[in-house]
Amino acid sequence: MCGIVAYIGKKQAFPIVLKGLKRLEYRGYDSAGIAVLNGGALNMFKRSGKVANLEAYAMEHNTEGHAAIGHTRWATHGLPNDINAHPHFSNDESIAVIHNGIIENYDTLKKELIAHGYTFQSETDTEVLVHLIDDIRRNDNLTIAEAVRRALHHVEGAYAIVVISKDNPNQLVAARKSSPLVVGIGNEGDFFLASDATPIIEYTKRVVYLNDEEIAVVDLNEGLRIFNIGNQEKTPFIQKLEMELEALEKGGYEHFMLKEIHEQPRSIQDCLRGRVNSNEGWVALRGLLDYETKMIQAKRLIIVACGTSWHAALVGEYLIEDLARINVEVEYASEFRYRNPIIDENDVVIAISQSGETADTLAALELAKSKGATILGVCNVVGSSISRVTDAGCYTHAGPEIGVASTKAFTAQVTVLTLMALSLAHKKGTISESAFHALLTEVEDVPAKVKEVLKTNSIIEKIAAEYAEAPNALYLGRGSSFPVALEGALKLKEISYIHAEGYPAAEMKHGPIALIDENMPVFVIATKGNSYEKVVSNIQEVKARKGKIIAIVTEGDVNVKEMADHVIEIPETHEYLVPLLATIPLQLLSYHIALMRGCNVDQPRNLAKSVTVE
Ligand code: F6R
Repeated sequence: MCGIVAYIGKKQAFPIVLKGLKRLEYRGYDSAGIAVLNGGALNMFKRSGKVANLEAYAMEHNTEGHAAIGHTRWATHGLPNDINAHPHFSNDESIAVIHNGIIENYDTLKKELIAHGYTFQSETDTEVLVHLIDDIRRNDNLTIAEAVRRALHHVEGAYAIVVISKDNPNQLVAARKSSPLVVGIGNEGDFFLASDATPIIEYTKRVVYLNDEEIAVVDLNEGLRIFNIGNQEKTPFIQKLEMELEALEKGGYEHFMLKEIHEQPRSIQDCLRGRVNSNEGWVALRGLLDYETKMIQAKRLIIVACGTSWHAALVGEYLIEDLARINVEVEYASEFRYRNPIIDENDVVIAISQSGETADTLAALELAKSKGATILGVCNVVGSSISRVTDAGCYTHAGPEIGVASTKAFTAQVTVLTLMALSLAHKKGTISESAFHALLTEVEDVPAKVKEVLKTNSIIEKIAAEYAEAPNALYLGRGSSFPVALEGALKLKEISYIHAEGYPAAEMKHGPIALIDENMPVFVIATKGNSYEKVVSNIQEVKARKGKIIAIVTEGDVNVKEMADHVIEIPETHEYLVPLLATIPLQLLSYHIALMRGCNVDQPRNLAKSVTVE
């Protein structure tokens, strides 16, 4: 949510920052802007809309300079227009600031600054930062770095900022609290700053992840120095990025979402690698091994998450309760954090998050920690805030997910949760050896079966054509396929803007059935398993009201085929693993329908990836 990127060094800064903004555009695309330092001039380029608008505008101007800061915005305060676009200037245009986050006390600060004679151009909360830094600098005749440090003592809220100034042309000053910021150490004495590593990877693999309330000063003469807000100097902890540049490209696919859907055999395989071996009969999530006893003995496991990750958590609840017989509760992180939950040291709270930066999920964890709970994380982004704040955890290894709609991250999360359930069940003795071995083999077969499911793409495209104009859609499932129904509905609504609802199939009779008529497509997960017969009855209820049935069935099913308008077959697998296969056709359906409706699949309206504001 908002992407920031900056460069200082010997190269031309503008093209590097512009390219960085394109990589970060998934974090917001309401407006984009760059301020570039060229000798004694600090030049500003800002445009509403996508980075391409900014690029077209800037092409007509001189963008030369050795240092630049750039921002791609997901609007919080103020309309997404040119004026509200970042960076924001100080009144004398000698300092510019980019910011990701929310300044909660901006109104109070703004009134004080107006009283000090400052004028505001924009409606943003960010503009207070630049005037505050300027005010403090002038009053006490301070360096920019010191003024930034002191200014942050007055600020409440979340921020990742980078400050550029005419007076210190060899320096950029950055700071973070609750919003991510990475420093890249270039190979030519140059430096990069960004919300995540994606704009940096092309130039260097050496990075430092800033911690909360740390200030980084990158200086062409003095190098990188890090201070905490109390002004104590810290030794930078340099890490090596494992990510490869190809992971950030579309690789011949029309959209990132399509690429990421097709990557799932590989991403699930990567998630399983080194963690399961059916021949030797073991499963191990090494990051959690030391905490398994605690998890087994816990009063309950509470999984906190948002959106798609919350759906993965619901699948996890089914699996962990059924296999390991441990009490699991799943909570929306945003609700959990504000409802004064009863938590103590006997609870284990697990956060699930692709980005590892979701503000509500992070805050829910911090709350749980403050009440003495053990906190664990399942994240995709290495080095993310959640992965660093937790006592332990494991990565999903899905690789960078650029499409705003989550796809491969979901199946990787479900894979980790499946392994977690199996490992806990085995350790606790709630699964027989033979069932354990059989399940391990089935788990190892999932990547190949996902590959098979992807072959149904052309069938799915034809089905999509029939329902692309539908105004509404229902998704039904039971057991661990209920969260799959929720996820299918979310995927459709977020990228095609069709109103869609996911329901437990049996709940239909308690209200939603009133919606069904001959125009209502009803997507049903009707695979073989415990509730198969019951789902078949639900299908009949829909048919009796002339609804259109699109069913996901187990290969070879004839029963549902006779009733449904369309079927999509998926390979037979253990019931526990159905979510990993049944989700894929629903992702493809949403993709094709969105495309047919002319929607921007990778950057759906009003959305952004990595929701770093609550
Ligand atoms: C939907 C989607 C969102 C995210 C949610 C949580 O496709 O991507 O619902 O799942 O914003 O994000 P993370 O997993 O990064 O915490």
